[in-house]
Amino acid sequence: MDAQALEREALSAIEGAASPVELDEARIRFLGRKSELKQALREVRDRETGMALNAVRERLEAAFEARERTLRTAELEAVFAGGEALDVTLPGERPRRGRLHLITQIRREIEDIFLGLGYEVYDGDEVATVFENFDALTTEPGHPSRLPSDTFYLDEGTVLRTHTSPDQIRVMQSRQPPIYMVSLGRCYRRDTPDATHSPTFHQVECLAVDRHITLADLKGTVLHFSRALFGPDRDVRMRTSYFPFTEPSVEFDVSCFLCGGEGCGVCKHSGWIEMGGAGVVDPDVFVNVGYDPEAVSGFAFGLGLERIAMLRHGLPDLRLFWENDLRVLGQF
Ligand code: FA5
Repeated sequence: MDAQALEREALSAIEGAASPVELDEARIRFLGRKSELKQALREVRDRETGMALNAVRERLEAAFEARERTLRTAELEAVFAGGEALDVTLPGERPRRGRLHLITQIRREIEDIFLGLGYEVYDGDEVATVFENFDALTTEPGHPSRLPSDTFYLDEGTVLRTHTSPDQIRVMQSRQPPIYMVSLGRCYRRDTPDATHSPTFHQVECLAVDRHITLADLKGTVLHFSRALFGPDRDVRMRTSYFPFTEPSVEFDVSCFLCGGEGCGVCKHSGWIEMGGAGVVDPDVFVNVGYDPEAVSGFAFGLGLERIAMLRHGLPDLRLFWENDLRVLGQF
């Protein structure tokens, strides 16, 4: 290859290019990956030729840049000279307003409901010890939720919390009753994603510990909470259930906010919507955190935030919260 001849040819093509498009074509021809110069550079065997070819490449790149600037300026000048003045009355492009994610909105709403009741909001770590997540909550050693197939272990004694209940333990360990706290945040389980499950999801936890707390206090609190979230006409019912850390344990349902209890698609024609788990704190949990179970009693409940959001807005699939499609999230 005659480098000098090539350079001359390229420079005249650069000068001859009458528009940025023509210039780009010349750039591809003389400096593109398949150009003669690039191929020659790939095959270089001695230092001298390499340096000479690189110098040609650098000169050509500079010439392309200079010509591009000239052509762009000329293009702009032609626009202005042709009377195409800037129309300042044209509508601008409105910057898109950001907004809080639906889950964050609901989280804050729930925090406000409990702050209004005099509760304190606790921000618990997403990493918990096995003691906080399972042992202190009297979860039996063989309980399936402890298996590495269900829970993300960081090491033998540490997990990504599988629920917000370890926050109960952390709060109780750090101080004496009375305690009225809510804690909201991310939880992790090795669940296969589907319309109602995700390996990462959010829960809200509520814990009250004081003298003479009973199941009736639990029901009153859940009723207030459900009405604040789903409307003043809601009713709440409890069904017996089992959690290792509450006795008695219940699942609570709220009367369907869509049909008012008559039966519809949302409540699967039962008139009731499942909300979450709850119960009276098991005395053994108090022992584990150093409280006297004879002196205090308490209730706790926990539920999924995604579930609340899906119910309230009729969303069919929990994965919508994570896909970050602004056409969906922008509606809330
Ligand atoms: C618990 O996690 C208990 N800690 C709740 C509790 C607290 C009971 C205090 C008693 C006292 P459960 O495993 O049922 O319970 O989960 C509660 C809610 O979390 C479920 O109803 C569901 O809404 C939500 N949830 C659980 N797993 C997932 C998941 N993989 N994806 C989305 N939401 C989930």
